[in-house]
Amino acid sequence: MRRLAGGMSSHVPDAGESAGPRPVALVTGPTAGLGRLFADRLARRGYDLVLVSRDEARLNEVAGELAAAYAVSCEVLVADLTDRAQLGAVEDRLLDRGHPVDLLVNNAGFGLKRTFLHNTVEQEQAHLDILVTAPMRLTHAALRQMTERHSGGIINVSSVAGTQPRGSYSAAKAYLNRFGEWAAHEYAGAGVRIMTVLPGFTRTEFHERMDVGRDAVPRLLWLDAERVVDDALADFDAGRRISIPSKRYRVIATVSKHLPVALLQRFQSLGRR
Ligand SMILES: NC(=O)c1ccc[n+]([C@@H]2O[C@H](COP(=O)([O-])OP(=O)(O)OC[C@H]3O[C@@H](n4cnc5c(N)ncnc54)[C@H](OP(=O)(O)O)[C@@H]3O)[C@@H](O)[C@H]2O)c1
Repeated sequence: MRRLAGGMSSHVPDAGESAGPRPVALVTGPTAGLGRLFADRLARRGYDLVLVSRDEARLNEVAGELAAAYAVSCEVLVADLTDRAQLGAVEDRLLDRGHPVDLLVNNAGFGLKRTFLHNTVEQEQAHLDILVTAPMRLTHAALRQMTERHSGGIINVSSVAGTQPRGSYSAAKAYLNRFGEWAAHEYAGAGVRIMTVLPGFTRTEFHERMDVGRDAVPRLLWLDAERVVDDALADFDAGRRISIPSKRYRVIATVSKHLPVALLQRFQSLGRR
């Protein structure tokens, strides 16, 4: 289910890009929150976009807005990334050597409303599929064409929760943290830059979708989504392999590595109902 929105334009936007073809970024989860902002900032930098998530109407709306605002081409791929066949269609897009993707942003994700044993195992499986299987498989597909071209970048949106014992969500993000850390070193010599972003609690639709109010987390701990994305892209430009937006979360991530699990678990109800 692939469609073009906004059409192709001969106008080459700013960002100091050359007059050649524009680079292409594929962003998962661009209809809300962090992904919406990644899509905006990358379009502003002159990237054509491939936008991937489930909500076709919202995808078309975002594609139309970004194509109009920045004169870039926005391709829409409707896919539920927890569905292996639909995920496969996104992998195929990344493997398309005729229309290579220069930057992959693995961002789509959700949290579960209840704790581990209160969820069905199928809900836990879908959660693992969106947070681990999808970014792993999309990274695999992207790396195949990027290493061949000796050029490309991947940004994995993980979480500070991956440094803490906070249920299956943090376990999945811990995978992504370690995976990204390893892959960044492994493929640097092949011309591919990989960075992992570890946001803390950020004002997006994420907690709303979990029916969690803003009061479930102290005000001091909420981050602004624009700041997270702008800091992440600045870190990517600077060649960093890990981006932890805000000093307070850099401290939390560092301290978390050294505290006993029993102590950290006392805080696991933060950000939950
Ligand atoms: N917000 C936070 O506090 C926070 C903190 C740390 C890390 N993160 C991480 O940041 C990333 C983005 O989250 P966000 O806060 O921006 O959340 P959000 O505002 O709820 O946006 C989530 C995006 O993911 C897409 N998505 C959800 N399920 C999907 C599925 N099955 N298949 C395809 N797309 C799907 C949604 O699009 P559709 O509904 O159109 O499918 C939406 O575009 C996630 O990986 C999250 O774990 C968030």
